[in-house]
Amino acid sequence: MSLMEVPPSYTEVTRHAVFPEPSHDEAARFNYLANFNKYMATTLSAGNKLAYDRRVLPAFVKEQGREPKDRFEIRHAMNKDPWHRFWSALKRNSMEMRQQNGRSMVLRQLDELDAKVRQFNEGRDTLQLNADVQVPRYQAAIDIHCMPGSYHGEERPGDVSAGANYDCGIFATTGGGLGALNDGGGQALVEWIKKERPGWTPKRILDLGCTIGHNIVPLALAFPDTEVIAIDTAAPSLRYGHARAQALGAYNLKFVQMNAEDMSAFADGSFDWVQTTMYLHELSGSALPRIIQESVRVLAPGGLMLHLEQPQYSDAMPLFEQFLRDWDAFNNNEPFWSSMHALDLKSIMADAGLPREVQFVTGVSAVVDETVFPKQSSGKGEDHGRAAYWNAYGAWKAAA
Ligand SMILES: C[S@@+](CC[C@H](N)C(=O)[O-])C[C@H]1O[C@@H](n2cnc3c(N)ncnc32)[C@H](O)[C@@H]1O
Repeated sequence: MSLMEVPPSYTEVTRHAVFPEPSHDEAARFNYLANFNKYMATTLSAGNKLAYDRRVLPAFVKEQGREPKDRFEIRHAMNKDPWHRFWSALKRNSMEMRQQNGRSMVLRQLDELDAKVRQFNEGRDTLQLNADVQVPRYQAAIDIHCMPGSYHGEERPGDVSAGANYDCGIFATTGGGLGALNDGGGQALVEWIKKERPGWTPKRILDLGCTIGHNIVPLALAFPDTEVIAIDTAAPSLRYGHARAQALGAYNLKFVQMNAEDMSAFADGSFDWVQTTMYLHELSGSALPRIIQESVRVLAPGGLMLHLEQPQYSDAMPLFEQFLRDWDAFNNNEPFWSSMHALDLKSIMADAGLPREVQFVTGVSAVVDETVFPKQSSGKGEDHGRAAYWNAYGAWKAAA
């Protein structure tokens, strides 16, 4: 069975009570984009390596008398290659099409969405917004991954447009690889912790930069007696995320508008688990170490710190792979992607108070629903949903 024979299907995706309703054509566009992205990431992307090996590298060596010394030199050389330019333009366009489809789908039903969300949000103390919280400049200065208004923009005051657009479009960019509710990372965390610490029930969990809570809802559902707090600076994402979590039954999950650089509202050592999912790569170089420091401060002795991210660049990762992974930084408004992936996270965590002896790095793969994303039968290509893979950079803080 080939990759394209069992495509993820937008119409089959399990929705929740506040998910934007797609028309036939909107679902068809997202289906097209999901499969187009998978095709680009596999079949078409292979052409980049061919172009490099057969044309770009030999020309570079001929001109310079040596091989490229870093991912930046490869990028400059590849940016002149016609195949890479073609692939890159397709990829950028697919992101713009995702945003256009998602946003038009959300805006035409914004009244209904705001009303649905209000039903879940009004009068609940599990949503705590604070208009004094500023969106950091490193977030506000650009439209992150071409998302109009980023995570915090409002079409009109108090709306959920940014959160709803993020939720309905991520399926297309990941080719369905995060599962029906786009929560494959969170489900993987649940599976990981149950094996790592069987029987452990944290009393309090803190999730930083939760957006709409895709990956913290599975933890809240897995630990119903745990108090789970998810913070973010973006109000429209929090409004939508809170309603979504309530619709999915995560009543022990609180959404709080707060900047993770200053969590003075939380006492030292007040959480047993502090974590982030696909968050660190969107932080500026100065915010990241500050946030790690704050996270270590609020982590209880004996507690778990965990950051799920794409693998960091290292000497073991070929320069060509680093160049390809860098694509988003230079073509998709992810300004910190490149520099963040080159950081020495272990040193940053050690400087913040988690010495190397208590740190670990482990691999985590998305866990998704096999009814919607069946396993490949022949072993060819990738399993639907199992393509998403992260590194977990973590530490168990020394007990008191
Ligand atoms: C890539 S998204 C994180 C995805 C999310 N963790 C998930 O699992 O779906 C980054 C989020 O971090 C938030 N953010 C950025 N800087 C922040 C800060 N200093 N404090 C709190 N949230 C922040 C943004 O508003 C955005 O929602």
